[in-house]
Amino acid sequence: MKSKLKIGEINIKHPYFPSPLAGLTDLPFRMLLDSMGCTGALFTEMISVEGLVRKNPRTLLMIKSFKSDTPKFVQLFGSHPETFKEAVRYINNETDFDGIDLNAGCPVKKVVNKGAGAYLLKDLSKFRDIVRAIRNSTDRAFTVKIRLGFNGVNVFEIAKIVEGEGADAVIVHFRTKKDGYSKPARWEFAKPLKEKLKIPLIGNGDLLDAKTTKERLKFVDGIMVGRGIVINPSFFKEIETGKRERDDIILNRFIKYMEGFYPEEKWLPRLKAFLRYFSKGKGIPKQRKNELFISKDYSFVKQNSIELFSNICKDKKP
Ligand SMILES: Cc1cc2nc3c(=O)[nH]c(=O)nc-3n(C[C@H](O)[C@H](O)[C@H](O)COP(=O)(O)O)c2cc1C
Repeated sequence: MKSKLKIGEINIKHPYFPSPLAGLTDLPFRMLLDSMGCTGALFTEMISVEGLVRKNPRTLLMIKSFKSDTPKFVQLFGSHPETFKEAVRYINNETDFDGIDLNAGCPVKKVVNKGAGAYLLKDLSKFRDIVRAIRNSTDRAFTVKIRLGFNGVNVFEIAKIVEGEGADAVIVHFRTKKDGYSKPARWEFAKPLKEKLKIPLIGNGDLLDAKTTKERLKFVDGIMVGRGIVINPSFFKEIETGKRERDDIILNRFIKYMEGFYPEEKWLPRLKAFLRYFSKGKGIPKQRKNELFISKDYSFVKQNSIELFSNICKDKKP
């Protein structure tokens, strides 16, 4: 599908975006997604502006980048406009990210209690100040990722603030903070919201198959996929071409990128985090999964998961 979508000055080739996912969309995973093709832009996991301005080594590792033609966004979270300004200056001066995304949707208690993430949806004055602070600090593309609201739905008001302060697109996870993940995403808000906005609307929530995703795309300018893209990293390619990449090829590639990026002691927890989603819905017996998840031996988990997915792929051959 040819995309007419433009975010700021960036022409987006494919209207499909992988969500920022803490602990999952790290550099090796972003490289994997990029290698699959058909990805409109790549987003880092949420990055603390405090960590960034303090040059926390863990934070700096999280914003490491790689060469690619795919536009790259860094997602920031925090609670003080001044800290955002400083963090954005750092991004401008020290990195090659094409854009910045503001996290105004994270429901995690630790984040909300500090006045960040979804908290901003119930303090719209602070929200406006932060959106303004970022916009005034960068000419790079700027998007804001929100939910429908905090307790109730006030997405129209929130999205109008985003647009009014000059952001280039709004990304909406069609749930309130209160909805958590228990209720289905409320896509019925997509059409009326789109009608009220001049900036592009990217919709997010519960997209797990190509058919539904194509349907949803009729009401928005782009779609963003979280869990579905870890379960199936070739999801976007499947939407475009109808073809899915083999799971054993994907797993081997992820392992190669992951081992190349992290020190050895990180390999086991990182591979397990990947497998937790990647192994979903593929008919793998629970006991085989458990063996992998309780093991403390990286070589065992690596060899067994490679074997497991190679066998599944062999079984699927006509
Ligand atoms: C493990 C996990 C980590 C997440 N981390 C982030 C994050 O860092 N930033 C963010 O904006 N949203 C984060 N989210 C929310 C997703 O980006 C997305 O909005 C949500 O999962 C709904 O989309 P989905 O149904 O396609 O997964 C996270 C979700 C999950 C499950």
